[in-house]
Amino acid sequence: MPTNQERVTRLANMRAESLLGGGQARIDQQHARGKLTARERLDLLLDPGSFVELDAFVTHRSSDFGLDEQRVLGDGVVTGHGKIDDRLVFVFSQDFTVFGGSLSEAYAEKIVKVMDLAMRVGAPILGLNDSGGARIQEGVASLGGYADIFYRNTRASGVVPQLSVVMGPCAGGAVYSPAITDFTVMVEGTSYMFVTGPNVVKAVTHEDVDAERLGGATTHTTRSGVAHLAARDEAEALALTRRILGYLPQNNLGEPPRRESSDPHDRMDAELDDVIPDDPSRPYDMRDVLTRIVDHGDVLEIQPGWAQNIIIAFARLAGRTVGIVAQQPAVLAGALDIDASTKAARFVRTCDCFNIPIVTFVDVPGFLPGVGQEDGGIIRHGAKLLFAYCEATVPKVTVITRKAYGGAYDVMSSKHVGGDMNFAWPTAEIAVMGVEGAVNIIFRDRIAAAKDAAAERATLVAEYETQFANPYVAAARGYVDDVILPHETRPRLISALEMLADKRVENPPKKHGNIPL
Ligand code: HXC
Repeated sequence: MPTNQERVTRLANMRAESLLGGGQARIDQQHARGKLTARERLDLLLDPGSFVELDAFVTHRSSDFGLDEQRVLGDGVVTGHGKIDDRLVFVFSQDFTVFGGSLSEAYAEKIVKVMDLAMRVGAPILGLNDSGGARIQEGVASLGGYADIFYRNTRASGVVPQLSVVMGPCAGGAVYSPAITDFTVMVEGTSYMFVTGPNVVKAVTHEDVDAERLGGATTHTTRSGVAHLAARDEAEALALTRRILGYLPQNNLGEPPRRESSDPHDRMDAELDDVIPDDPSRPYDMRDVLTRIVDHGDVLEIQPGWAQNIIIAFARLAGRTVGIVAQQPAVLAGALDIDASTKAARFVRTCDCFNIPIVTFVDVPGFLPGVGQEDGGIIRHGAKLLFAYCEATVPKVTVITRKAYGGAYDVMSSKHVGGDMNFAWPTAEIAVMGVEGAVNIIFRDRIAAAKDAAAERATLVAEYETQFANPYVAAARGYVDDVILPHETRPRLISALEMLADKRVENPPKKHGNIPL
């Protein structure tokens, strides 16, 4: 019979063993690849000393393929809870030093346990991914474990924030857990995500491609839109994750944390009055507008490298989180295409489910024309954005800086789709289409019949511009609530958001809407 001291020593030994995961040699290998261990990552992610580990003594239960000889305490994933900025979060961190971080039945149960706890207490779930996928020796038990996680990812969607950081391999069906979560951050050079790797691609499609091109951070943040942010290294990825979380509430019943802001609420910025070029076809950088308006110019752009014709971002106004959706006239003239529509639609829904007011800046010449866009289903994808805005019940404030043409005017948080407060700058042109196009259609016969067609056309364009290419036709109908000077945008937005702070609107009771997917 062991003495009590021996029992305590046994615990200490087991604890020390579990901290080593797959052992020092594999930890060294992990470091040699420029990667941190699962525990080092948690140290960087969480407030110092806040991590509370669960299930450190769990082992797999498999005995096939000699696995009974290889039981590692913790079984390849470190799970528990901790704090970020003093707020509770649940975490799992996959440990590549144990069976390549591959997922066993017991490993999945550990993740499921923290997800269930997170749902019970209403706290975010953060997953650090670094895994060879299903533990091949465990077969279908591993697949079942994945599906148990996907199911919980889906149940938790819109209830608690879920953030994924991809810090190594993430392949096969395993990619679908990050894909369901709200945000995915990838590390450049050491992480990849794909449904089938380069070898399978070669066999099936005869394409030669390496893992980086197929599923690296650059691919997913510039081409596919699968990931939201790329980080230069692991520390930056974890810092970005902390930063995103700072804009989000603990759960769908809470409000995002409000920070004290020393940026004066009534601050005006005269430079804004000169942002819009006199020539309406000239671009400008919408980022300049955003940084001049929000608290301390601090904007966290999400998916900055993908669908750059639209900007989505978190920022704060008077210390309150806002989600910003803004056209970028410097790319594709700010036209809405397929990728821009899906990018913005998802973000509008993310903001809506987490009680984040949406501020929309509009300068849109319309939906992007073309066979490629129509073939790709711009109608279906554009409808997503329209649907998302119509459905969103959070405060919605809109500023039309320049063009708001055609259907895109309707879509971009117009009054008609539930915009609560709609402002326009004096430079706004709210119309069915651009001046030139409109004159060409309405006055085609008159221009053709004129002695000097060019002069006649120029006169008509000038007349049309004065009459219709302005904000006042819309303002006369109350479609914009006020025409404001660009320099006063910040105080006007802050006052509008304060007025709307207690907005309560319910959509009709239904199982769920049928958003065009
Ligand atoms: C069991 C695995 C494993 C796995 C890696 N290991 N992946 N063990 N199941 N899925 C083990 C390796 O055998 C090795 O053990 C150790 O982890 C480190 O792996 P290495 O191959 O040495 O590392 P590296 O060269 O960096 O390559 C990493 C890798 C590669 C690219 C992830 O290991 C790999 O291709 N693994 C198989 C990936 C795979 O096919 N997974 C199943 C996909 S299907 P030793 O002891 O030799 O050091 C899937 C379906 C999910 O995941 C479905 C959800 C619905």
